Amino acid sequence: MMKITRILSVTLTLLVLGQPALADEEATDAGPTLYERMGSWEGIDQIVADTLALHLENEEIVDILDGIDLDKLHTNVTAFFAMGTGGPNKYEGRDMTSSHAALGLTEADFDAAVSDVLKAVRKNVEDESVAEEVNAILQSLRPAVMGTAAPAG
Ligand code: HEM
Repeated sequence: MMKITRILSVTLTLLVLGQPALADEEATDAGPTLYERMGSWEGIDQIVADTLALHLENEEIVDILDGIDLDKLHTNVTAFFAMGTGGPNKYEGRDMTSSHAALGLTEADFDAAVSDVLKAVRKNVEDESVAEEVNAILQSLRPAVMGTAAPAG
Protein backbone atom coordinates (compact mmCIF):
# COMPACT_ATOMS: atom_id res chain seq x y z
CA MET A 1 0.00 0.00 0.00
CA MET A 2 2.84 2.36 0.88
CA LYS A 3 4.39 1.63 -2.48
CA ILE A 4 1.23 2.41 -4.44
CA THR A 5 0.75 5.66 -2.55
CA ARG A 6 4.35 6.62 -3.29
CA ILE A 7 4.03 5.81 -6.98
CA LEU A 8 0.80 7.80 -7.10
CA SER A 9 2.42 10.73 -5.38
CA VAL A 10 5.44 10.72 -7.72
CA THR A 11 3.15 10.44 -10.74
CA LEU A 12 1.03 13.36 -9.54
CA THR A 13 4.11 15.47 -8.83
CA LEU A 14 5.44 14.75 -12.31
CA LEU A 15 2.07 15.59 -13.83
CA VAL A 16 1.86 18.91 -12.03
CA LEU A 17 5.51 19.92 -12.41
CA GLY A 18 5.79 18.52 -15.92
CA GLN A 19 2.90 20.58 -17.26
CA PRO A 20 4.58 23.99 -17.62
CA ALA A 21 7.70 22.40 -19.09
CA LEU A 22 5.58 20.65 -21.72
CA ALA A 23 3.67 23.83 -22.51
CA ASP A 24 6.94 25.76 -22.91
CA GLU A 25 8.32 23.14 -25.20
CA GLU A 26 5.21 23.26 -27.36
CA ALA A 27 5.41 27.05 -27.64
CA THR A 28 9.07 26.85 -28.70
CA ASP A 29 8.35 24.17 -31.28
CA ALA A 30 5.59 26.16 -32.92
CA GLY A 31 7.70 29.34 -32.85
CA PRO A 32 6.38 32.77 -31.90
CA THR A 33 2.93 33.71 -33.17
CA LEU A 34 2.51 36.42 -35.81
CA TYR A 35 1.06 38.51 -32.96
CA GLU A 36 4.37 38.19 -31.08
CA ARG A 37 6.43 38.84 -34.21
CA MET A 38 4.49 42.08 -34.71
CA GLY A 39 5.55 43.20 -31.21
CA SER A 40 2.46 41.97 -29.34
CA TRP A 41 -0.18 44.51 -28.27
CA GLU A 42 2.16 47.53 -28.15
CA GLY A 43 3.71 46.71 -31.51
CA ILE A 44 0.32 46.31 -33.18
CA ASP A 45 -0.96 49.48 -31.52
CA GLN A 46 1.99 51.39 -33.05
CA ILE A 47 1.47 49.79 -36.47
CA VAL A 48 -2.20 50.82 -36.42
CA ALA A 49 -1.28 54.38 -35.36
CA ASP A 50 1.22 54.60 -38.24
CA THR A 51 -1.34 53.12 -40.65
CA LEU A 52 -3.97 55.70 -39.71
CA ALA A 53 -1.42 58.52 -40.11
CA LEU A 54 -0.60 57.19 -43.60
CA HIS A 55 -4.33 56.92 -44.45
CA LEU A 56 -4.78 60.60 -43.56
CA GLU A 57 -2.07 61.50 -46.10
CA ASN A 58 -3.42 59.10 -48.70
CA GLU A 59 -5.62 60.84 -51.31
CA GLU A 60 -7.40 57.60 -52.12
CA ILE A 61 -8.53 57.11 -48.53
CA VAL A 62 -8.60 60.40 -46.61
CA ASP A 63 -12.15 61.39 -47.68
CA ILE A 64 -13.58 58.03 -46.56
CA LEU A 65 -12.32 58.73 -43.03
CA ASP A 66 -14.12 62.08 -42.88
CA GLY A 67 -16.43 62.12 -39.85
CA ILE A 68 -15.17 58.75 -38.56
CA ASP A 69 -14.20 58.42 -34.87
CA LEU A 70 -10.51 57.63 -35.41
CA ASP A 71 -9.80 56.78 -31.75
CA LYS A 72 -12.53 54.15 -31.83
CA LEU A 73 -11.28 52.87 -35.19
CA HIS A 74 -7.75 52.66 -33.77
CA THR A 75 -8.98 50.66 -30.74
CA ASN A 76 -11.10 48.31 -32.83
CA VAL A 77 -8.51 47.69 -35.54
CA THR A 78 -5.79 47.00 -32.92
CA ALA A 79 -8.02 44.46 -31.17
CA PHE A 80 -9.03 42.92 -34.53
CA PHE A 81 -5.39 42.48 -35.61
CA ALA A 82 -4.42 41.03 -32.23
CA MET A 83 -7.27 38.53 -32.39
CA GLY A 84 -6.46 37.51 -35.97
CA THR A 85 -2.72 37.00 -35.42
CA GLY A 86 -2.75 34.77 -32.34
CA GLY A 87 -3.15 37.35 -29.57
CA PRO A 88 -5.96 37.80 -27.03
CA ASN A 89 -9.52 38.15 -28.23
CA LYS A 90 -10.67 41.60 -27.08
CA TYR A 91 -12.42 42.58 -30.31
CA GLU A 92 -15.80 44.21 -29.73
CA GLY A 93 -16.37 45.70 -33.18
CA ARG A 94 -18.67 44.60 -35.98
CA ASP A 95 -17.95 41.97 -38.61
CA MET A 96 -16.00 43.06 -41.70
CA THR A 97 -18.97 43.18 -44.08
CA SER A 98 -21.24 45.21 -41.75
CA SER A 99 -18.53 47.72 -40.81
CA HIS A 100 -17.63 48.54 -44.42
CA ALA A 101 -20.99 48.18 -46.21
CA ALA A 102 -21.93 51.87 -46.09
CA LEU A 103 -18.53 53.12 -47.26
CA GLY A 104 -18.89 52.23 -50.97
CA LEU A 105 -15.29 50.99 -51.14
CA THR A 106 -13.63 50.32 -54.50
CA GLU A 107 -10.92 47.73 -55.13
CA ALA A 108 -8.49 50.68 -55.49
CA ASP A 109 -9.46 51.88 -51.99
CA PHE A 110 -8.80 48.41 -50.65
CA ASP A 111 -5.39 48.18 -52.36
CA ALA A 112 -4.45 51.66 -51.09
CA ALA A 113 -5.40 50.73 -47.51
CA VAL A 114 -3.43 47.47 -47.65
CA SER A 115 -0.44 49.32 -49.06
CA ASP A 116 -0.52 51.72 -46.06
CA VAL A 117 -0.78 48.81 -43.60
CA LEU A 118 2.22 47.07 -45.19
CA LYS A 119 4.27 50.28 -45.13
CA ALA A 120 3.49 50.63 -41.42
CA VAL A 121 4.39 46.99 -40.75
CA ARG A 122 7.72 47.35 -42.60
CA LYS A 123 8.49 50.55 -40.69
CA ASN A 124 8.10 48.72 -37.37
CA VAL A 125 9.17 45.13 -38.10
CA GLU A 126 12.38 44.21 -39.89
CA ASP A 127 11.42 40.62 -40.72
CA GLU A 128 9.89 40.82 -44.23
CA SER A 129 7.98 37.57 -43.72
CA VAL A 130 5.76 39.44 -41.22
CA ALA A 131 4.65 41.90 -43.93
CA GLU A 132 4.03 38.99 -46.30
CA GLU A 133 1.88 37.14 -43.77
CA VAL A 134 -0.08 40.28 -42.90
CA ASN A 135 -0.68 40.84 -46.62
CA ALA A 136 -1.99 37.28 -47.00
CA ILE A 137 -4.41 37.80 -44.09
CA LEU A 138 -5.65 41.13 -45.48
CA GLN A 139 -6.13 39.66 -48.96
CA SER A 140 -8.13 36.79 -47.44
CA LEU A 141 -10.44 39.40 -45.88
CA ARG A 142 -10.99 41.24 -49.19
CA PRO A 143 -14.31 39.54 -50.09
CA ALA A 144 -15.76 40.18 -46.62
CA VAL A 145 -14.65 43.84 -46.55
CA MET A 146 -15.81 44.48 -50.13
CA GLY A 147 -19.12 42.73 -49.47
CA THR A 148 -18.57 40.16 -52.19
CA ALA A 149 -18.25 37.16 -49.84
CA ALA A 150 -20.97 34.51 -49.85
CA PRO A 151 -23.27 35.17 -46.87
CA ALA A 152 -22.37 33.14 -43.79
CA GLY A 153 -24.55 30.18 -42.89
C1 HEM B 1 -8.56 43.87 -44.94
C2 HEM B 1 -8.83 45.15 -44.89
C3 HEM B 1 -9.50 45.82 -43.74
C4 HEM B 1 -9.60 45.43 -42.43
C5 HEM B 1 -9.01 44.22 -41.75
C6 HEM B 1 -10.38 46.45 -41.75
C7 HEM B 1 -10.71 46.43 -40.40
C8 HEM B 1 -11.65 47.25 -39.82
C9 HEM B 1 -12.16 47.13 -38.49
C10 HEM B 1 -11.75 46.05 -37.49
C11 HEM B 1 -13.06 48.10 -38.29
C12 HEM B 1 -13.88 48.38 -37.01
C13 HEM B 1 -15.28 47.86 -37.15
C14 HEM B 1 -16.20 48.46 -36.08
O1 HEM B 1 -15.99 49.61 -35.68
O2 HEM B 1 -17.16 47.82 -35.66
C15 HEM B 1 -13.10 48.88 -39.52
C16 HEM B 1 -13.90 49.98 -39.72
C17 HEM B 1 -13.68 50.88 -40.74
N1 HEM B 1 -12.88 50.67 -41.84
FE1 HEM B 1 -11.82 49.05 -42.24
N2 HEM B 1 -10.73 47.41 -42.64
C18 HEM B 1 -10.21 47.07 -43.87
C19 HEM B 1 -10.31 47.79 -45.03
C20 HEM B 1 -10.76 49.08 -45.09
C21 HEM B 1 -10.65 49.95 -46.24
C22 HEM B 1 -10.07 49.55 -47.61
C23 HEM B 1 -11.17 51.17 -45.86
C24 HEM B 1 -11.26 52.43 -46.65
C25 HEM B 1 -10.34 52.91 -47.39
C26 HEM B 1 -11.62 51.04 -44.50
C27 HEM B 1 -12.21 52.02 -43.76
C28 HEM B 1 -12.90 51.82 -42.58
C29 HEM B 1 -13.74 52.81 -41.93
C30 HEM B 1 -14.04 54.22 -42.44
C31 HEM B 1 -14.25 52.21 -40.78
C32 HEM B 1 -15.19 52.84 -39.73
C33 HEM B 1 -16.62 52.53 -40.10
C34 HEM B 1 -17.58 53.18 -39.10
O3 HEM B 1 -17.19 53.44 -37.95
O4 HEM B 1 -18.72 53.39 -39.48
N3 HEM B 1 -11.37 49.77 -44.08
N4 HEM B 1 -12.23 48.35 -40.42
